[in-house]
Amino acid sequence: MSSDYQQVLDTIHRDVQPLLRQGKVASYIPQLSTVSPDHFGMAVFCLDGRTYTVGDADVKFSLQSITKLFAFALAFAREGDDVWKRVGREPSGNPFNSLVQLEYERGIPRNPFINAGALVITDILATRYVQAEIAVQQFARLLANEPAIDFDHTVAESERSTADRNTAMAHFMKDFGNFHNPVDIVIDAYCRQCSLTMTCAELAKAGSFLAQHGTIPWSGTQILDPSSSKRLNALMLTCGTYDAAGDFAYRVGLPAKSGVGGGILALMPGEASIAVWSPGLDEAGNSLAGTYALERFTTLTARSIF
Ligand code: DON
Repeated sequence: MSSDYQQVLDTIHRDVQPLLRQGKVASYIPQLSTVSPDHFGMAVFCLDGRTYTVGDADVKFSLQSITKLFAFALAFAREGDDVWKRVGREPSGNPFNSLVQLEYERGIPRNPFINAGALVITDILATRYVQAEIAVQQFARLLANEPAIDFDHTVAESERSTADRNTAMAHFMKDFGNFHNPVDIVIDAYCRQCSLTMTCAELAKAGSFLAQHGTIPWSGTQILDPSSSKRLNALMLTCGTYDAAGDFAYRVGLPAKSGVGGGILALMPGEASIAVWSPGLDEAGNSLAGTYALERFTTLTARSIF
């Protein structure tokens, strides 16, 4: 067992190398397939301010579904428990972009992290803000203390031109009365939101409020009250890695949120937040080497929530 995080990260960096080409880089959003699978970066942001990094921890990558965490945190902070009128909080057991459950659950998505649920959250933000994606961007800038958090417009356009499945979900939910704004406006906002880019170092910092009971560690700004922060951590553990959430909890033992850009944000409550990036994905759409790296991290440090 080691608490020398730099040594642990260096060991993991060495150990993941054979795995980097075993995953598959996402290609259903064409622009994402142009990223090399050889990237690997990891950053640990400790609540006392120390940061440890390895590999490509300072290279920007596409956050994709990790932005669902920021969008949901913003909606939850503003709307409170009203969000549960529009979306559930159970694991889906289905792929992140599945349509089937929506029909028999009458347009109420299982949770805010599958695509249907995230679209509802963007719809809620589109009612509250002039431009939902700008609200999420500003929020991400505040959380990372980094004014240069930006969209990747090429990725946004690429997703927008292939967004038929998400658009179908939105129309379906509108038919059930669970979508209030024009579908095209929300899909535009959602594609831009998902195209936000960060480095591992920025992402670990941006997520750290969730490791500190809802309060940004370095500024003392309360984003969520401790109870809401606990609830969001629970959602990450049960739903943050989609239909692989059980296996992820078994292997890693930390609340986490993944994205098809290959990033994963994981939390060690009361201690640190960890971001890892490796673009090759497993079958469920989670970073293959990233999941392994987090599993190694909690094993080598003997730290998890369990
Ligand atoms: O809507 C989509 O399909 C993407 N913008 C985001 C999906 C995603 O990142 C799922 N994560 N593993």
